[in-house]
Amino acid sequence: MNIGLVGCGRISKNHFEAIRKVPKATIKGCCDIVKERAKEAAKAYDIPYWTTNFEDLLKQEDIDLISICSPSGLHPAHGIMAANYGKHVLTEKPMGVRLIDVDQLIKACNDNDVRLFVVLQNRLNPSIQIVKKAIDQGRFGKIHMIVANVFWSRPQEYYDLSEWRGTWALDGGAFCNQASHYVDLVQWFGGPVKTVMARTDTLARNIEAEDTGAAIIKFDSGCIATINVTMLTYPKNLEGSVTIIGEKGTVRVGGIAVNEILYWKFSDSNEVDFIIDEFSTDPNSVYGFGHEAYYDNVINSIINEQKPSVDGNEGRKSLELIEAIYTSSKNHKIVNL
Ligand SMILES: NC(=O)c1ccc[n+]([C@@H]2O[C@H](COP(=O)([O-])OP(=O)(O)OC[C@H]3O[C@@H](n4cnc5c(N)ncnc54)[C@H](O)[C@@H]3O)[C@@H](O)[C@H]2O)c1
Repeated sequence: MNIGLVGCGRISKNHFEAIRKVPKATIKGCCDIVKERAKEAAKAYDIPYWTTNFEDLLKQEDIDLISICSPSGLHPAHGIMAANYGKHVLTEKPMGVRLIDVDQLIKACNDNDVRLFVVLQNRLNPSIQIVKKAIDQGRFGKIHMIVANVFWSRPQEYYDLSEWRGTWALDGGAFCNQASHYVDLVQWFGGPVKTVMARTDTLARNIEAEDTGAAIIKFDSGCIATINVTMLTYPKNLEGSVTIIGEKGTVRVGGIAVNEILYWKFSDSNEVDFIIDEFSTDPNSVYGFGHEAYYDNVINSIINEQKPSVDGNEGRKSLELIEAIYTSSKNHKIVNL
């Protein structure tokens, strides 16, 4: 599987490192509108082709898959261009910042018969996989409540790094960017969402979108969830956790990238309960280890024509929920999904 990557910024390094380690994957080209970034990435990772023009990257016939690491609002346009060139598309999260654009991306991939993948790598954390398995096995019984807390710290300098950060057109706020993995996990664990009520605000940072917010979600199952997000935690990241409270089990996953099982109690007994610490990992950043596992999953699902961990329709669900959170906050109304 030959890969071309667009957007050689911060997260691209996780992609280059992951591709290096995954068998059957080779990075063949990279692109960034900033010439030095494309050139330096090519040098650092031994990439044979680099360009500042995305279309030129797409014209490379030996490239099978395009990895999109550009600002979030550009993901749909870049993905549609790649699909029209017959390339498979892997996009960083979130898939886009507006559902209407993301739906066009899904359509373009279907029309061109190429695959679409969304990087929601935290789903592949051993800690998260074991929780999902417990849910699917019915170990929680009825799930009553899910709580996600994202108490992180992003100073003004972080937003000032690039003009796209914190803008509605290209980024969105704390829910759409930093907390999007947590929104995804809440909906993945809770199932179909019935209604959303939310309040978001820009309390301290000089950006268009929100730096803080809270959402209350009611699921079809009856379960209630809350997602509490702030990028204003003093003095540094404090918590990124998901807690699930069911009639027969309670679990909390935390750590810097929902990588650690902090609490694990069930009324029944299962062999994993005795080795639960083995499902905790120790990544060195909030991005976690997941990009390598994610690429492995993507490449295998293309080669073996299997369903991947997160395809376009699966990735769309969290964006639909984020859009509902923004609509509810803007209109001061409950939103039905
Ligand atoms: N999966 C994760 O955990 C995770 C973590 C961090 C970031 N991300 C996502 O990755 C994306 C990029 O984030 P980042 O922090 O690397 O941003 P960044 O600003 O560091 O990098 C973006 C790069 O895209 C380039 N670019 C912009 N417009 C372009 C265009 N038209 N053509 C080619 N290149 C262009 C910029 O020059 C920049 O180098 C965002 O969508 C973000 O949400 C995901």
